[in-house]
Amino acid sequence: MMFIPQETIRKKRDGLELNRAETRAMVRGITDGSVSEGQVAAFAMAVYFRGMTLGERVDLTEAMRDSGRVLDWPSLGIGRGVADKHSTGGVGDKVSLVLGPLAAACGLFVPMISGRGLGHTGGTLDKFDAIPGYDTAPGLERFAKVVREAGCAIIGQTVDLAPADRRLYAVRDVTATVESIDLITASILSKKLAAGLGGLVMDVKFGSGAFMREYDDARELARSIVTVAEGAGVPTTALLTDMNEVLGHSVGNAVEVREAVEFLTSASREPRLAEVVLACTGEMLVMEGAARDMAEAARKMEDALASGTAAERFGRMVAGLGGPKDFVERADAYLDVAPVEMPVLAEREGFVAAMDCRAVGMALVAMGGGRTRADQSIDHGAGMTRFIRIGGRVEPDTPLCVVHARDGETARMAADRIRAAISIGERRPPDRPVVRERITAETAKEAS
Ligand code: URA
Repeated sequence: MMFIPQETIRKKRDGLELNRAETRAMVRGITDGSVSEGQVAAFAMAVYFRGMTLGERVDLTEAMRDSGRVLDWPSLGIGRGVADKHSTGGVGDKVSLVLGPLAAACGLFVPMISGRGLGHTGGTLDKFDAIPGYDTAPGLERFAKVVREAGCAIIGQTVDLAPADRRLYAVRDVTATVESIDLITASILSKKLAAGLGGLVMDVKFGSGAFMREYDDARELARSIVTVAEGAGVPTTALLTDMNEVLGHSVGNAVEVREAVEFLTSASREPRLAEVVLACTGEMLVMEGAARDMAEAARKMEDALASGTAAERFGRMVAGLGGPKDFVERADAYLDVAPVEMPVLAEREGFVAAMDCRAVGMALVAMGGGRTRADQSIDHGAGMTRFIRIGGRVEPDTPLCVVHARDGETARMAADRIRAAISIGERRPPDRPVVRERITAETAKEAS
């Protein structure tokens, strides 16, 4: 039957359910350009207001997955144990840098296709760009070779995965239709499923530094992603994790790579970061049968960290993608160091009561360490280290963190922003768990 885009848009506008053929035709038209810009926008707005059933969401996700290349790991020499983690984005979130090599050291293969940072959340690729020589845009052959030999490779969108999402997202971005659970689900999952995964763990963040600030919204997104991924045949678990304070003790690009190396070499591990890393990696190990349960997964991960195997996998990945061969041993010799270091003093006494992580992320952007437009370049040395925790006791001369900046004026500007982003109160706030809830296909179904 001939596809008439406005008929499909009208149907969705009127709140009717699209069938699989209609959804696939729409996605084909978005990909090949035969559906106009205005029609893409109208379709997105109709979905935004009318929503989609679970069946429609699965159809949309699969159609977008199939709009480009879908990786087939068995034909690339990896038969089993291919899994990944995806995060909705945070501030100081260097989980991927540690999780990839750690999961690889425990027997999995992690082909991770990541994005660059935009706005207040950092991007994993920008962190790898801080490593001289590291190629975030290798061809498929080199990508597959590094996954085979190191067990993990973290790269950008080079192979042509889910091109429909690229066009649809660009239109959503300028038509106020990003905030649709249906469209976010299809957008995230189409790209992840095109990477040919056997299992997926979603780190869905909530709180002041998260894309979904409200817990209930984050939970709804987590349930949607888990049920749609299962519907598309990829076992998926979601963890809802707290993004009300910086994850780990650093924010920036070079400084976060340094923290990831310190984590892998056991030099230092911030406890909340460790909890998220071990929870996500453990889920992947159990899901793929590399561990019987979380207790066995915890033992394997501890061994991989203590023996240096996880750090060695990180080094192999970096070298395999063109970075220095001795990066793990001599990270400081390779990473940019900002010329100015300045402690941000609390200037009063009390307890750290709250942190506006979005404002912390924007302070990094203002220092040149992030971007507000996709074509901006980044100062990899800019950042903050030794971030205080919520609940920390401070005196007027206690540092809330140390800023690393290109000059004194930039450092002072960032210090003012960070001081304004951190509230200090008279009482210690109650402790909050970092992993708040685990959502599986079963629990998501029970809730719906
Ligand atoms: N991240 C994505 O990849 N897509 C969305 O729609 C939102 C966040």
